[in-house]
This record gives sequence, C-alpha cells and structure tokens, in this order.
Amino acid sequence: MKKIISGLILACVTLSVSAQTDENLGIIPAPVSVEKKAGVFKLDKTVVLVSNETSNAATADILNAYIASQGGFALRPSQAAATNERAIVLSSVGAEKLPVEGYELQVTARNITVTGKGAGLFYGVQSLMQMMPEKKGQEIDVPASIIKDYPRFQYRGMHLDVGRHTFPVSFIKKYIDLMAAYKLNNFHWHLTEDQGWRIEIKKYPKLTTVGAERNGSVVGHHPGVTSDNTPYKGFYTQNEVKEVVAYATRKFVTVIPEIELPGHSSAAIAAYPQLSCFPDRDTFVDPKTPWAGSRKGKQVQQQWGVFDDVFAPTEYTFKFLEDVLDEVMVLFPSKYIHIGGDESPKEYWKQSPFCQQLIKEKGLKDEHELQSYFIQRIEKYINSKGRSIIGWDEILEGGLAPNATVMSWRGVEGGIAAAKLNHDVIMTPGNQGLYFDHAQSKSSGEPVNIGGNSPYSVAYAYDPVPEVLSADQKKYIKGVQANLWTEYIESPEKAEYMILPRMFALAEIAWSPLDRKNFKNFSEERIPLHLARLDKTNTNYWVPVPVGQSDQQIDGEDITVDLKVPVQGAKIYYTLDGTTPSDVSNQYRSALKVNVPKGTKLLLKTVVITPKGKRSVISETPLNNGAK
Ligand code: ACM
Repeated sequence: MKKIISGLILACVTLSVSAQTDENLGIIPAPVSVEKKAGVFKLDKTVVLVSNETSNAATADILNAYIASQGGFALRPSQAAATNERAIVLSSVGAEKLPVEGYELQVTARNITVTGKGAGLFYGVQSLMQMMPEKKGQEIDVPASIIKDYPRFQYRGMHLDVGRHTFPVSFIKKYIDLMAAYKLNNFHWHLTEDQGWRIEIKKYPKLTTVGAERNGSVVGHHPGVTSDNTPYKGFYTQNEVKEVVAYATRKFVTVIPEIELPGHSSAAIAAYPQLSCFPDRDTFVDPKTPWAGSRKGKQVQQQWGVFDDVFAPTEYTFKFLEDVLDEVMVLFPSKYIHIGGDESPKEYWKQSPFCQQLIKEKGLKDEHELQSYFIQRIEKYINSKGRSIIGWDEILEGGLAPNATVMSWRGVEGGIAAAKLNHDVIMTPGNQGLYFDHAQSKSSGEPVNIGGNSPYSVAYAYDPVPEVLSADQKKYIKGVQANLWTEYIESPEKAEYMILPRMFALAEIAWSPLDRKNFKNFSEERIPLHLARLDKTNTNYWVPVPVGQSDQQIDGEDITVDLKVPVQGAKIYYTLDGTTPSDVSNQYRSALKVNVPKGTKLLLKTVVITPKGKRSVISETPLNNGAK
C-alpha cells in the first residue's frame, strides 16, 4: 500500500492557485458537464470519509493519501456520517445507471459525494483531487459544483518503447500514475526491438542473456557515425512484469504487451539465429557502421532504423513465437496482445528459397501476402487462447487478419481503411501530433529528438474520428493513443520532458466530448495550472513558450505584443537587441508596445522561467517595419 500511495502523490501535487475561476474547475480532461454553484465545501480535519463498499477501499485510500499530502491531515474513515458531521462520500449506489467509466461528483457546503463504480469512482476522485486548491489556513476550499462525466473513447492509450532505451520499474509505475491521473487507461508496453529484447522468457533464456544487451549506443542522431562503446542492457523479469501489471490494475490501467513480429526482431535473432532466413549470414552489419553490431558475434544491433533480418516464417519460428506468447499471455491478462507488424522489409523473404517455396505452396501472391499469412497464423493462435491481436497498420497489406484491431500510425489512412472493413481501430497518427518523440517546437534549443514539430496544440486539434467515415464505420474507432519511441530518450527525465504537457492534450481528445474542447481555456487556464503543480514536484516537463507568441513575423511601426505566462507563477523575460534573454533581461509584465523604426527589423526573443527555475526554449518573433 505504501508503494501505491507514494506513486500517487507525484501525479497529484499541490495546486498553487485557485482552480475555482476556471470554467472546468481546473480539470484535465474537461468533464462532460460542469455546473458551478455558490459556496465551497470546507475540507478540514473534522470531515469524515465514508466509503462502505470494500471494492472502493483502494480509491478511498488514494483520496485520503492525497488529502494528507495537501492538507497535512487524513480523514477519519466512517461507515456513515453523524448528523453533525460533514463528509466526503464515495458511493457506488446508482452507479449502474451511469455510462461505463462514468461518475458524478456533487460538492455542497455540507458534503462531497462521488458516485461511480470501479474506474468511474476512481476517475471521480481524480477530478476531485484536481479541483482542490492549495490549503488556506487549516482548510482546503473545494468549490461547490455538480460534475457529470464519462469518456468519449473506451481506449485511451499511451505507448512506451523500452527496446531502444529501457526504464526502471519505478519509472514504469510513475508513467502509469501519470496516465491514470489523466484518465488514460491502456499502457502499450513495447517490449521487443532490434536494439534490445526486454522481457524474460523462461523457455528462451538467451533472449535476455544475449538479446537484452548491446555493446553500445549510437552517438548523436541517426544515421549515427559512432558508438559510445558503453554496454547497454536491461530487461524486465517476469516477477517485475507481474508487479507492473498488478500496479496498473489498481489504477484501472490495462497493460498491453507488444511482441514485435515479423520485423524489428533482430535482437531475438542475435540470440537464436535459426529464427532468421539466413542463420549463417552476418547480416545486419552495415559496412559503413561496423561498430553497430555483428549478429554472428551474437551482438545486438546498435544502429537505429529498420533492418532486413526479420523472422523467417518457418515452423521453428512459429513454435518459438507460440512458446513466447504462452508465457506472455500468462503474465498479461489483457484482452489484446500487440504483435507489431510494422516496418518489416521483404528483402530477405525475396532472397530466401524457403520463403519463395512457401509462397508457392500456400498459393500466395507475394511477400505481402506472406506477411499476412504470418500474422494470420499468429492471430489464430492468440484467438485460440481467447485473446485478440492489435497490429500496426501495415497488417492491412496482403490481407487483414480476420479479428485484428488496427493501430493507425502512418497517418489516418490505415485507420480509415480498417474501419471500412469493419475492423476496430485505434488512432495514433504520427502526423497529427501523437508521436511524442517529435520536437515540441522549431527551436534549435530543443534537446536531440527524432525531428518533426509537434507542439501540444497539434495533438489538441486532432479529432480521432475521421469525417470521411459513415456513422456506422465511425463506431469502429475505439480510441486514440500517443507513442513514445525512445531512440533519443535515454532517461526518465527526458521521457517526462517529451510527454508533458502533450499527454494532457491526448487525455482531452481521448476523453472529452468534441463540444467541450476549447483550446483557449486549455492552454491559458488549465495547462498553466497543471504545469505549476508539476513544477513543485520532481517530474520534468517541457516549459511552453509564452502564450500568444508566434514565430510569424509581425509587420508594423507601433507593434503591441500581448503575452501570458504558460505556467502559473512563471516569469517571461525578453530582449529586443538580439541578445539571448535570461533572468537578468527585462521582465515582461504587461503588453509590450514596441516602436520599430522605419526600414528596420527587431527580433523579440523571450524565455519563460518557472518558479523552480525550469526554462523554456528561446522563442523569436521578428517585428518588421519595412526592412528587407
Ligand atoms: C511505428 O512507429 N513504427 C509503429
């Protein structure tokens, strides 16, 4: 229990400001409906916590731990409030009438009642915690209100690649805490990659004795030209996996494992070369980067990218995969098992006499149909165990496996095609701001990343349901997910920097009804509030550039620039003389009126510095009065 509580506190930290003025009472994602009432519930140590159903005990503990962290007092648990007692009541009575995962939250001067069952009650408590302002004197004033809430999508996911870089179990739990605090409910754990196999499989010990260790990592950006020559290793034992799954379950997060096939599998092949079409080739070595690994030397690939050495569709491979999946399905009770299916080059299958013979024997048209044969065989096996597969959108090529759910990542087209075939879809398009490994601004000050430019506004603007689908087809869009690939994310701090605050935007598009979306309120009220909270913790995040500043040139002679701080309590500093702004520069306090002499151009440069001293990248806006 101790562990649950400590994990929770980091995700639900002190609110420094009055959330009450906000139309959403500071809640992310925006609830379905918020009715503000007059007055407050004065939360102090005389309040009792009523939670009768044993199934609600864990959620009651979470709430009480939060109140203890914020108020310095814990509430006395009680079976029922006496007539003279004020109470927070967690109740499942009537919850069966609420939508799935839904809750109702009523705050009056006398009581706070959260009604919901399981995940619904848990989410009601998350909202309640987010509504609480900082303690004032001896009490926390919770604004009187009625909130009715339930999710737009049943699948609200975050992915984490632990193949390229791996992260301690404590961070996996923190990631789950952050997700749960924002009502995200599926953790897609990408466990196997070319650069490392990260889950213990007892029947195939070399997957981790060989496949979980590489001799070094790429220095700089792909294509890397050198290695740091520092051995890099790590994997999750089965006991650790069980611990993570159990932890997530308590937070109403389902863990979906991904075992990549047939591509992105060269770490497994380094361990068991018989899985390759060409066991004797020293295959993935690129003569330009000989340091990147030698499969014959049983080394795991160091270079990032996509490799030709993929699983051969042999009986040996299928038996191997079935054995692996048997162990995986014991560890993960999720309905879905993700089998990858993306970026699997066909070159080796083209060269392989075995594969060509198999194509003929099975009456297949080409290597794409061979991939479809591969996926369908695996699907049949997984279905025979009562589970279902998810695959990346390449599984559409050569014929979709009959029961597969498609994860659309190369844009939205795969999702549209799958929905038209009456298949379930999860939208996670990289070109709509949902690849959180992309840069968050165009600034050269961003830390090394895969590229692109996906500030949180892009994800926020995205609607996962494509307009081109018919009403019936739209029902196949089960949800939305953001992905965190970790080629350039080597530490928990960097992972946090990349997901926050973008994960807030994901939460809102995954949960809130379309008509509750409001970018102005989100970016100017709630993001600054939540980032101010994070600023007080040890959780890292990307400090947004000033609200209202753009990199677009402003033309004119007398120019007014109106900015807002993107983190409550932060300060904006600026220069107009070309120097880099810092905390000794002019502080922005109110709208700037800049006179730009005729024929000249000035560069407004700003930096945001938070109370904790975190800094944004430098933002630049050209102010031009007729200069060339
Ligand atoms: C992917 O980003 N390769 C699914």
